[in-house]
Amino acid sequence: MNRKEALNSIKANVENENLVKHMLATEAIMRALARHLGEDDEEWGLTGLLHDIDVELTEGDMSSHSKLGADLARELGTSEVMAHAILCHNEVHGISLETKLDKALFCADPLTGLITAAALVRPDKKLAGLEVKSVSKRFKEKSFAAGVNRQQISQCSEIGLELDEFIELGLVAMQGIAAELGL
Ligand SMILES: [Fe+2]
Repeated sequence: MNRKEALNSIKANVENENLVKHMLATEAIMRALARHLGEDDEEWGLTGLLHDIDVELTEGDMSSHSKLGADLARELGTSEVMAHAILCHNEVHGISLETKLDKALFCADPLTGLITAAALVRPDKKLAGLEVKSVSKRFKEKSFAAGVNRQQISQCSEIGLELDEFIELGLVAMQGIAAELGL
């Protein structure tokens, strides 16, 4: 499977533009993480890109979310390692995070939400002028974007990154595709 095939499948299964943008942002962070850690850029990027492909299909049923996603990913030809990362990013299944890829997807997923929310409260609603220190400040404000799971983001320590380092990597990665994200 290549990126184009993954995107075609996303287009066929996901209508919500914001959800597609979330998946693109996750892809960008996963690629940056892979480069930072000397891992496979394409493998990590495509895992991030596909991770929420089943959200609309499962209609909010968290007991099937990510199980179907992992099945769809396998059908598209992803490796078992990639499918496993997609499967266990939904904590509801209680499947433990095993590989570095599992752990990377788990912490990258909510970071996109924090960074997006931090951009949207700026007067220009853009990522360009957003600084690491303001995202870090927002991280500590529990009432800000309260749905963003801080504890999950903090698990970047499991793949050897300090929180501020992870926020910076994620911010730069999302700034790199700001036009696609409309931010
Ligand atoms: Fe997600």
